[in-house]
Amino acid sequence: MLKVMLANQIHFDCQPEQRILEAARHHGIILEHSCRTGRCGVCKAVVVSGETTALQPEVSLTESQLAEGYILTCCRTATTSVQLDIEDLGALGKLQVKTLPCRIDHLQPLTDDVLEVTLRTPPAIHLGYVPGQYVDMIGKDGLRRSYSIANAPRNDGKLTLQIRKVPDGEMSQYWFSEAKTNDLLRLEGPLGTFSLRKTNLKQIILLATGTGIAPIKSLLEQLSAAARPGFSRIHLYWGGRTEQDIYWQPKFPNLPLEFTSVLSRSPEWSGRKGYVQHAVLEDRLNLPDAVVYACGSEAMIHSAHDELVAEGLSGKNFFSDAFVSSN
Ligand SMILES: Cc1cc2nc3c(=O)[nH]c(=O)nc-3n(C[C@H](O)[C@H](O)[C@H](O)COP(=O)(O)OP(=O)(O)OC[C@H]3O[C@@H](n4cnc5c(N)ncnc54)[C@H](O)[C@@H]3O)c2cc1C
Ligand code: FES
Repeated sequence: MLKVMLANQIHFDCQPEQRILEAARHHGIILEHSCRTGRCGVCKAVVVSGETTALQPEVSLTESQLAEGYILTCCRTATTSVQLDIEDLGALGKLQVKTLPCRIDHLQPLTDDVLEVTLRTPPAIHLGYVPGQYVDMIGKDGLRRSYSIANAPRNDGKLTLQIRKVPDGEMSQYWFSEAKTNDLLRLEGPLGTFSLRKTNLKQIILLATGTGIAPIKSLLEQLSAAARPGFSRIHLYWGGRTEQDIYWQPKFPNLPLEFTSVLSRSPEWSGRKGYVQHAVLEDRLNLPDAVVYACGSEAMIHSAHDELVAEGLSGKNFFSDAFVSSN
């Protein structure tokens, strides 16, 4: 049997043709991941020893990362026993991934092209998840798309999603033209590892573009419910093109929260203009004392990572969920 050994000595078996990420999950071990399709790069790891083979193209790895021995655990299987430089995420491994039936409880347009969908699962089976995670929604003919959960767990178990209309998108066609209250769907989750991490750092910087605000809202609800959030400052930057893209106002009076909306295509706008990552740099935040959670477009996430790390943020304190396309 081929073994995969992690940097913290946790190990698990990997079957032939089984992706390392899936093999870990099969053993109740969660490795850092988001898209599971090779597109976001969150699951990258360095192979310290042993051999692996790619089962699908690792599109998000750069030439230099490949040369440094990086692989994507969502794309590769082990062909000998291997040692990786990454650790597992402990407690997240206790959450069981389930496929559940659910019904649309409520549909609420937030803008012309963003819809809030509230889902209810059967009363006896609520989905266990941590704020920041996402679900795959499974529609007609097995069509499957990923959406972040926009609320922290509630007593009634309901889940809200904020769904952007993608022009000519197959699932968008369903959400924006066909979906109605009480429709029966299926969801698989919880998925992804975007979630608050334990840290002694004193500032949180939250970056979102578009519906990337959904998991950030869930993280803020979690922080607000915590008796002592443990941070001296939380900076939220939310980017959109025009004013209508800023469809939600954070209201968390018990949090030391500073909210900045940043618009890229509104010359008349009197507030901040440009891109969220540049607004952070302009504000001269103390980046070595910060942890960043970024969610939304791939372009923002790559640029924010590179530009903030260049200005003193530790790469280990940058967590992201890129809303990449499913196909
Ligand atoms: C982990 C994760 C969480 C996500 N959470 C959310 C969420 O909370 N809210 C939300 O609105 N979206 C979210 N997304 C993105 C969402 O899954 C896709 O936008 C969705 O798959 C579009 O589905 P569709 O069937 O309408 O379009 P498709 O039929 O899949 O696509 C139609 C066309 O648009 C392109 N396209 C599709 N999606 C994107 C995209 N995101 N960026 C650029 N081009 C795209 C496709 O390549 C294709 O050419 C998330 C994605 C991931 C990976
Ligand atoms: S590239 Fe592997 S999880 Fe996104």
